[in-house]
Amino acid sequence: MGKLTVPEIIKMKSRGEKITMLTAYDTPIARLLDEAGVEIILVGDSVGPVIAGYPNTLPVTVEEMIYHTKAVVRGVKRALVVIDMPFMSYQVSVEEARRNAGRMIKESGAEAVKLEGGANMKEVIKAITEIDIPVMGHIGLTPQSIHRMGGYKIQRQREKLLEDAHAVEEAGAFSVVLECVPEEIAEEITQRLSIPTIGIGAGIHCDGQVLVVHDLLGLLGDFRPRFVKRYVELGPLIVKAAKDFIREVKEGDFPTPEHVFHLEE
Ligand code: KIV
Repeated sequence: MGKLTVPEIIKMKSRGEKITMLTAYDTPIARLLDEAGVEIILVGDSVGPVIAGYPNTLPVTVEEMIYHTKAVVRGVKRALVVIDMPFMSYQVSVEEARRNAGRMIKESGAEAVKLEGGANMKEVIKAITEIDIPVMGHIGLTPQSIHRMGGYKIQRQREKLLEDAHAVEEAGAFSVVLECVPEEIAEEITQRLSIPTIGIGAGIHCDGQVLVVHDLLGLLGDFRPRFVKRYVELGPLIVKAAKDFIREVKEGDFPTPEHVFHLEE
């Protein structure tokens, strides 16, 4: 099966076909998600809190995003790969945003960028799409605005959300993430826009859904936001495997003959 493209993702909305997107930050997970058939792999700036242990997404750099995205691209045959633009890589000026978007696509191998913001980012989205780099918007709860919002809060201002959604579409984005918005508002936005909406904590009516893969796999301990569904609990399985290894090494049960090499074989 060939590589999925931006026009194919847009067409999925008109066909009424749901779009699936998951995050990945490394080759083996990206390969598995691609094999499973997910349409879009997002190298999110959630890499900061999820992989690097940062308190939030703000410290993530362009270099870190490129490093992780290159790893993801090496594992993907079919899914569209989207790279998140990190905090301060697009907020200073339209020129800098365009330069960083270009660099991130050129060096990482991703096929589209994602950036946070609605009406306030209209010019930036326009400038990037004008040089033929596809942009995925992201409105509602925008984690890079954590300090303005005073934490990760559900966004309920209907007029503002509609204005942002329309601004992102008018600027030329090919899709938009709706994060933590009431289901009724997400439904209205989805009906009004011609580009696909991809929800996280935004209910069933979005054109697609996205989850952070470590949430879906049950790897983030007690962190259980309401919108996350854990499809498997890998955390306890990993602890068990590590404990079995420790016990077997301590008791001399590993390695066994099948795991060793000899001078003459
Ligand atoms: O960074 C990220 O993983 C994201 C998704 C949650 C949409 O932006």
